[in-house]
Amino acid sequence: MPTTSLPWTRHHILSLADFTTAEYDTVLRTAASFREVLSRRTKKVPTLQGQVVANLFFEPSTRTRSSFELAAKRLSADTLNFATATSSMTKGETILDTAKTYLAMGCDIMVIRHQQAGVPNAIAAEMDRLGTRVSVLNAGDGQHEHPSQGLLDLFTIASLIDSDNPRLELLKGKKIAIVGDIVHSRVARSNIWSLIASGAEVHLAAPPTLLPQLFAEYVSDEQREVSCPPLPTPNSPLPTPQLFVHWQLEPALRDADFVMTLRLQKERMTANLLPSLREYHQMFGITREALRLCKSNVKVLHPGPVNRGVEISSDLMDDPEFSLIQAQVTSGVAVRMALLYLIGSGKV
Ligand code: NCD
Repeated sequence: MPTTSLPWTRHHILSLADFTTAEYDTVLRTAASFREVLSRRTKKVPTLQGQVVANLFFEPSTRTRSSFELAAKRLSADTLNFATATSSMTKGETILDTAKTYLAMGCDIMVIRHQQAGVPNAIAAEMDRLGTRVSVLNAGDGQHEHPSQGLLDLFTIASLIDSDNPRLELLKGKKIAIVGDIVHSRVARSNIWSLIASGAEVHLAAPPTLLPQLFAEYVSDEQREVSCPPLPTPNSPLPTPQLFVHWQLEPALRDADFVMTLRLQKERMTANLLPSLREYHQMFGITREALRLCKSNVKVLHPGPVNRGVEISSDLMDDPEFSLIQAQVTSGVAVRMALLYLIGSGKV
């Protein structure tokens, strides 16, 4: 059980854009106590006994859905799993009606993944409008955000630096490269918020077709390696951001402490954005050779699922000296327990 009694006021977790340092640190500290619970022989605590957590996944998922389910079970909540193909949506039911059906069953927390950006926000707004106490957790919406992935990546990195006391400030000044299909990546969008909040130096590297237009505007013809001005934030100005954009891999990898590589999201590509997968691998694939540019103790992250041999070489992915991919999956359960605990513990 977490030993922290830090105040937590956020009711829905939809985005990291307006997360505060205190909130990041509360999540990291709470996840560390749940990691300890998960190392015990009896890996279960009664924290959310009697509460109902519904996993509403309107899009395929292996890791995120399983780890939310396991996290809820480890907290002793009752879990409901929904998958579009076997649901009444095939009979024409709307998303909001599906959510209201789960509400009527007494659901306390809805974990929502949808291929369309904004669906978790819309369900959260409807739950508030109806005066319910249901919390919504965004498990990935379109190309918008994937906050629990951003937080588990943060926890994985911070824990590597100080396992006993993972906290945001540990990443300050670290050089972190985010490489690959940034334009389609909700993982990158959440990670950019958390990494900038930590004071890390964030370097995005991708071919121009895979960079969001917002960033592409800062890359002129003459100057292909630039520093971005501050990103807009919903509520407060960001601390001086350290965000760089590159159209080549080398400057992003040079002396990097961590490399986050992203899956090429072929299912979201509506045009031919790349000459070929082989050429992409040659230019942006993370390989042992490419890592020679980085710090000698560099570590590589990938949210999965992986296209082996495309964004990362197959042998590197499996090499525990460099790869944090399995550690990310393990972190995912503790971090999602922390999120469910923080938004759920006020409800009983
Ligand atoms: C990511 C996602 O679904 O956004 N995966 C995940 O949640 N582990 C990234 C991806 O699909 O490439």
